Amino acid sequence: MVNRRLIIAVDGPAGAGKSTIAKRIAEILELEYIDTGAMYRALTLKVIRAGIDPEDTENILKLMETTSIYFKDNHIYLDGTTVDNEIRKKIVNNNVSVISKIKEVRENMVHLQRSLAESSNLIMDGRDIGTVVLPNANYKFFITASIEERGRRRYKELLEKEEKNISYEQILTEIKNRDRIDSTRKIAPLKKSLDAYEIDTTEKTVEECVEEILRIIEGG
Ligand code: CDP
Repeated sequence: MVNRRLIIAVDGPAGAGKSTIAKRIAEILELEYIDTGAMYRALTLKVIRAGIDPEDTENILKLMETTSIYFKDNHIYLDGTTVDNEIRKKIVNNNVSVISKIKEVRENMVHLQRSLAESSNLIMDGRDIGTVVLPNANYKFFITASIEERGRRRYKELLEKEEKNISYEQILTEIKNRDRIDSTRKIAPLKKSLDAYEIDTTEKTVEECVEEILRIIEGG
């Protein structure tokens, strides 16, 4: 019997629910889950820690040469240490999109991401997965939600993570700013692949979205 590979690409703007949904699908279908945003966030964290300006491409690229980013047991490692919590901080949110615009940074990440997809069945989420990283994925989903709902979700998430001195308005501005940079950059901008199924999660629960995706996969 031929073992058919299952590769699922998930893209969408900040706070649409991509990673929560992708994690659930991974559990149910026993797939590996790759959060590509975490990889860009890990590099951003290192740049911030090194005190390098996010616009200083030359020094960022130098730093990247001695950087190792990988996943192990669903944790993200930066130079051998897990950074799951640090990469979700506000300072990383506010700088990640600028660093993610850099051509060489993207080339490096895409190379890593494709090599992860060579050996296992997986679901990968990000901004350019269906369009650039895995254009031959078996299924592609584009997950969206209204900007207000995305702002509310991210605000709640940050409050739960003890980042108390933030306002909903600040979060909304931050998300709008990140969406704008991600969607208008020259290389691999955030956009729906023509062959992706679009799922608007604004008024749906996670379970409803997961069921919708599973129905599509099982039907095809
Ligand atoms: O979780 P959230 O939707 O806030 O963002 P994320 O998926 O963790 O991605 C953080 C940032 O990394 C995005 O705003 C993009 O700037 C960048 N990113 C990217 O450029 N390409 C990807 N495939 C994934 C993330």
